[in-house]
Amino acid sequence: MKNKYYKFLDLGYQPLANQFLSKKDLLKKEKKYRLSVGLNKSNFLVSIKDTFTSKEMFDENYPYRSSMSKSVSTSFKKLSRQIKKKFKCKKILEIGSNDGTFMKYFNKKNIIGIEPCKNVEKITKNKKFKTYPLYWNDKTCQFLKKKYGEFDLIFSANTLSHIKDLGNVFKNISKILSEKGILIIEDPSLLDCLKKNAYDQFYNEHIYVFSCISLNEILKKNNLEIFKIENIELAGGSIRYYIKKTQNKLKIDKSFKIQINKELKFGLKKISTYQKFSKRVIESKNKLKEIFNNLKKKNKKIIGYGATAKSTTVLNYCRIDHNLIDYFVDTTPGKQNKYTPGTKIKIKKYEKEIKKDVDFVFLGAWNFKKEIFLKEKKFIKRGGKFITHVPFPKII
Ligand code: TYD
Repeated sequence: MKNKYYKFLDLGYQPLANQFLSKKDLLKKEKKYRLSVGLNKSNFLVSIKDTFTSKEMFDENYPYRSSMSKSVSTSFKKLSRQIKKKFKCKKILEIGSNDGTFMKYFNKKNIIGIEPCKNVEKITKNKKFKTYPLYWNDKTCQFLKKKYGEFDLIFSANTLSHIKDLGNVFKNISKILSEKGILIIEDPSLLDCLKKNAYDQFYNEHIYVFSCISLNEILKKNNLEIFKIENIELAGGSIRYYIKKTQNKLKIDKSFKIQINKELKFGLKKISTYQKFSKRVIESKNKLKEIFNNLKKKNKKIIGYGATAKSTTVLNYCRIDHNLIDYFVDTTPGKQNKYTPGTKIKIKKYEKEIKKDVDFVFLGAWNFKKEIFLKEKKFIKRGGKFITHVPFPKII
């Protein structure tokens, strides 16, 4: 396996991306790991090298909540309508149901969710939905199969790429999915990530960043295959994959072939593509630091918007800390009054608008740029500017 892995990117020592610090934690030494990224030369799967177990990353302190973004809710609502119309399924399972943002669009009798982070799982349970605080593994699969039988639709957004043993993930899905059943998954797209130079897609939770090419290679080994894809804007550019069992004779939609061709044309099977990306990442770091240092020399007040897991990678890699960013604003209750991992920038509750004394805002949640710009018309009108590093560092 070792010689199959080609390491192409080194993002330095990083803390766990969602390990926001309380005031007490500021005095403690943080757990760090080396964040490097590589390509498996046989199936073209891109993954980070050093990984953590699910139990280390996803526990009852996990802060992320899907419902914090309007775009996520809207996208799930639209998808739920299509699912009801096209697939008419009676038994749905969601893997990684978070705070129930997807489940809420279905009849409580038709859907169950599993979510290992008890704090967010509880939110869905309190709304009387059937959820279990479980990780997706052999035991969970056996338990669910015994209790519910097979499912005719399984949905999972931004979860399966967080689990190390992918072979096992899909083997179990294959066991619990009915013969004509459909698996729909959404995860960040490698093609988008490379095109946008969005190196912050890499952090401890994103063990893998899938491409259509690599995912289909893994699925095929487990009697599954992609039959349709949709490019969606979420999470900085994702793909929604529609997957079926190999023996299911559903027609393969042309969107699958189109995506594969796009990926081949961009060079996702060529080492040189990853080498070029790595060079661009270093250039991006230097440019972003230059922007921050120049503004700080002019005594500009800079804050961050959206304390994302992604921004943990950027800030630690570029060494942008509390000396350069005064504070972050974020709508997520579990992040407020905490500090960003590694860089120790205070996170404040978002109060309706950006404060008047702020000159520049670093877009931690650049993937919600449109949503944020719409909300912050006042700031833009009075000459406030945003800083982003995607697709290259600039002031907008
Ligand atoms: P997201 O990009 O989904 O995250 P990650 O990189 O952590 O997977 O997270 C968006 C974060 O930005 C989340 O903490 C909520 C916050 N946010 C705001 O504070 N205001 C907003 O208007 C939006 C859209 C997001």
